[in-house]
Amino acid sequence: MPRHLPGEGAITAATASTASTRAGALAWAACALALLLPSAFAAAAGDAARGLYLAKAGGCLACHTEDKKGATPFAGGRALKTPFGTFYGPNLTPHAAAGIGRWSDADFVRAMRHGVRPDGANYYPAFPYPSFTGITDRDLADLWAYLKTLPPDPRPSQPHDLRFPYRWRYPIVAWKWLYFTPGPFASDPRRAPMVDRGAYLVEALGHCGECHTPRNYLGATKKDRALAGGKGPTGKDLPNLTPTHLAKWSDPELKDFLLFGTKPDMDSADEAMAEVVRNTTSQLTPEDLAALMAYLRALPARPDEPATSDKKK
Ligand code: HEC
Ligand code: HEC
Repeated sequence: MPRHLPGEGAITAATASTASTRAGALAWAACALALLLPSAFAAAAGDAARGLYLAKAGGCLACHTEDKKGATPFAGGRALKTPFGTFYGPNLTPHAAAGIGRWSDADFVRAMRHGVRPDGANYYPAFPYPSFTGITDRDLADLWAYLKTLPPDPRPSQPHDLRFPYRWRYPIVAWKWLYFTPGPFASDPRRAPMVDRGAYLVEALGHCGECHTPRNYLGATKKDRALAGGKGPTGKDLPNLTPTHLAKWSDPELKDFLLFGTKPDMDSADEAMAEVVRNTTSQLTPEDLAALMAYLRALPARPDEPATSDKKK
C-alpha cells in the first residue's frame, strides 16, 4: 500500500482501500485538520461559557432544580403542576446513574430537537421541546458543553405523578404527529436582524409561548394565537404579549418589567413570571433584551382570548 499524505490523497485512498487503512487515513486527516484548525474543533465541541448564557436564556434552571433553599442546581426534583398531573424536572447533571452522564452528544440533540429519550420513548411536552426544537445546532453544542461542566449529583430523577391515562407515554406519538414540527429556527430575511434575533429568543430559547400562548384541550399551543395570552399551562389566565395589551407600556416600562419584574402601576410580577425575570430576561445582554422587546413590538396585535372564568379567584 502506498503511503499518502493527509489531504485529498488520503481521502481517495480511504474510499479505495480496506476498512483498517481507511480508518488510518481518516485518523491522519483528522490529525492534520486538528493541527490546522484548532478553533474549528473547539467550536464543534461546544463552548461551555456560551452554554451557561444559553441555559439562562432557556430558563433551564427553574424546571430542573428543586424549589427549596439550598437545592443543588440542575439536580432535578422541581414539581411542575399541570392539569395532567405533576411532572418532576429530571436531574441534568453528568452523574452516570442519576443524571445524563452516560449520554452521547447525539442523545442530547435527539432529546432537545425531537423530544425522544435515548431508549426511544417520547418525552412529555411538559419539557418544552416544542419550543427548544428551534435551538440551533451550535447553541445545542454549547448547552451540552455547559451541562457537562456541572458537578455530578447522585439525586435520582423523581417519577412523574400523572393522572390516568397520561401515565402512558405511547399516546405522545399521536400528539407529536398532530402538533409537533421538529427543526431548527428558520431566520426570516424579510425582517430586521434585531427582530429576527428577538424571534429566536422568544420562540425557541425563551419558550415564552409555553405560558403565554393559549392551548387546546390536548394541551397543544394554538399557533395562530401565538402569545395572545389566555389560560396558561397551570390553568391561570395570562396576559397577552402582543401589542393589543403591551402597546400601553412604554419601552422603558417594558424594559423595567423584564429587568426587575415591576409593572408600570408599581405592582410586581407574580411568582411564575418573577422566576422568568430572575433566571432569564434580567440575565440577557442589553442587545438580546432589546432584540426580545423589538420582536414583541413587531408581533401582530392579536385579540385577547375569551376570559376563562372557571379558575379565577
Ligand atoms: C417548563 C419546564 C422545563 C424547562 C424550562 C426545561 N425543562 Fe428540561 N425537562 C422538563 C421535564 C418535565 C422533563 C421530563 C420530561 C419527561 O419525562 O417526559 C425534562 C427533560 C429534560 C431532558 C431529558 C432528561 C432525561 O433524564 O431524560 C433534558 C436533556 C432537558 N430536559 C434539558 C433541558 C434544557 C437544556 C433546558 C433549557 C434550555 C430545559 N431542559 C428546560 C422540564 C423543563
Ligand atoms: C412559566 C410561565 C411563564 C413563562 C415561561 C413566561 N411568562 Fe411572562 N408571565 C407569566 C405570568 C404568570 C405573568 C403574569 C404576571 C402577573 O400578572 O403578575 C406574566 C407576565 C408577563 C408580562 C407582563 C404583562 C402584564 O401585563 O402584566 C410580560 C411582558 C411577560 N410576561 C413577558 C414574558 C416573556 C418575554 C417571556 C419569555 C422570555 C415570558 N413572559 C415567559 C408567566 C410566564
